[in-house]
This record gives sequence, structure tokens and C-alpha cells, in this order.
Amino acid sequence: MNIIIIGATFGIGYELSKKYLDQCDNLILLARTQEKLQNLKLEFNSNRTKISTFSLDVTDKENCQRILREIVKEFKTIDLTVYCSGYYEPHDTFDIKLELFEKTFAVNFFGMVNCFSILLPHLKSQNSGHLAAISSLAGFGGLPNSSSYGPSKAAMINYFESIKIDCDKNNIYLSIINPGFVKSRLTDKNTFDMPFIMEADKAAEVIFEGLMQKKYDITFPFQMKFLFKFLKILPRPIYFLLVKILTKNI
Ligand SMILES: NC(=O)c1ccc[n+]([C@@H]2O[C@H](COP(=O)([O-])OP(=O)(O)OC[C@H]3O[C@@H](n4cnc5c(N)ncnc54)[C@H](OP(=O)(O)O)[C@@H]3O)[C@@H](O)[C@H]2O)c1
Repeated sequence: MNIIIIGATFGIGYELSKKYLDQCDNLILLARTQEKLQNLKLEFNSNRTKISTFSLDVTDKENCQRILREIVKEFKTIDLTVYCSGYYEPHDTFDIKLELFEKTFAVNFFGMVNCFSILLPHLKSQNSGHLAAISSLAGFGGLPNSSSYGPSKAAMINYFESIKIDCDKNNIYLSIINPGFVKSRLTDKNTFDMPFIMEADKAAEVIFEGLMQKKYDITFPFQMKFLFKFLKILPRPIYFLLVKILTKNI
């Protein structure tokens, strides 16, 4: 079994990579930070699983596609890919920095599509496989301070819905992962209280279990899942009223 984790150097991707040690033949770890990737090779000791690392920036279209082409050529069958790369910066509604919007979409959305542009045709040709990506509860509906991150995550959710039926026809499983707050470099930027915040290894455990069961929708923790799924179906005036109350300290 061959597994690719994109965004494996830190946070959720790093913890998730650990879960696949001894669970697969090849664990192929990707991210930008070369030094950290080298360390992972030493740190991840396994009798069964061979660790391969590739340094790539998902926003560098040509280089990213070239590396993924090399990977599919070398490893042939790709059983599971999890896209964990992501970027988040809280910002003020009235101080729009276009570079921030561009970077957020470049990593979260276009980076994913860039990787999938090589992986999806390959999975189609092997008539099997499983593609997963970490979106966010912030993609369920607009939230204050999240006008670049939220839309990029909503785009990921919509993209997965758009490709689902064609993937079904080609025996390709999909999983869209929507965590609440998880301790990582990204949430370290938040200064407000984050309800039900989880450790990254706990989040990785929930994701690992969901992926094993080939669930399409892996949304957690359950308290936030029910709250956000409920908010999603409300008429917008009630939604805005509740979000205003829930985020009054942000
Ligand atoms: N933490 C949360 O509360 C939370 C909640 C919901 C969703 N999420 C989502 O979960 C995912 C993982 O987040 P995290 O909290 O674990 O963040 P993190 O600790 O910052 O990890 C992000 C990973 O993405 C990689 N990455 C960033 N930019 C990249 C690029 N241009 N090319 C390739 N890889 C890149 C980073 O590695 P390098 O820096 O080495 O490239 C790192 O391995 C993200 O999509 C995030 O939006 C997080």
C-alpha cells in the first residue's frame, strides 16, 4: 500500500503521517521544509514502511506537477493521498491585503487542484484509490476575521462535491475533512478563546479512523459538527444573529 501525505512536516499532517507507520509499504511525505523532511526520515523508524520525502511548494505549478509525476512513475499504484497543506492568517474586514487572499487561495485551493491535476488522472487509470483533503468548519459558512480563509475552504468543499460522482464512476474514494480548532502553528495566531480545541495527534486519530472507514465527510469534534451543520441550514438572518452572539469576543 502506497500513501502520500502532502503537508507532512508540521501539525495535523505530521501527526497523521505517524499513524501510517507500519500500516503501509511506502509513506511518501511532501512539504516545503527540506530540513524537517530529512529529520522525518530519521524519526519515522519502521520495519515495514519505507519513508520517502520530496520537498515541494504546492503553489509552484510546474515543479509541484513534475514531482508528483515522478512519484506516480516510481510508486505506480497510489492507494491514498491526504492533502494537509494549508495557510491561515486572521485579518481585518476593512484592511484588505490582496496578497493575503492570493496566498491563502494559492495554498488551500489552487495548491490542492495542482496536486490533483496529476493524481486524479492517475487514479482514473488505475481505477482505484482514495483522495482526501483537509478543509475546515470555516468552509461551512462565513465567519468574522475569516474572509480569505473561509472562502478558500468553502471552495475545497464545493470542489469535492463537484468531482464526487465522476470519482464514484472510477472507483475513487473521496474524503473531505473538516476539523474544528486544532493546536498548531495556524491556531497559535489566534488570540481568542477556541472552544473544544484539540491536540493535533487526537485530530489525526479521528482522521485516521474516518479514512480507514472511507467516510466522505469527516467533520469533528462532534459538538462543533452539530453546531456548524445546524447553522448551515438556518435562514441567513438567524445565522447572522447566532454567529454575532457566538463570536462576540473575537
Ligand atoms: N489547526 C486548526 O485548527 C485547523 C482547523 C481546521 C482546518 N485546518 C486545516 O488543516 C490543515 C493543516 O493545518 P495545521 O493546523 O496542521 O497547520 P500547520 O501546522 O501550519 O501545517 C501546515 C502544513 O502545510 C505545509 N505547507 C504550507 N504551505 C505549503 C506550501 N506552499 N507547499 C507545500 N506545503 C505547504 C506545511 O509544511 P511546510 O511549511 O514545510 O511547507 C505544514 O506541513 C490546513 O489545511 C488547515 O487549514 C486546521
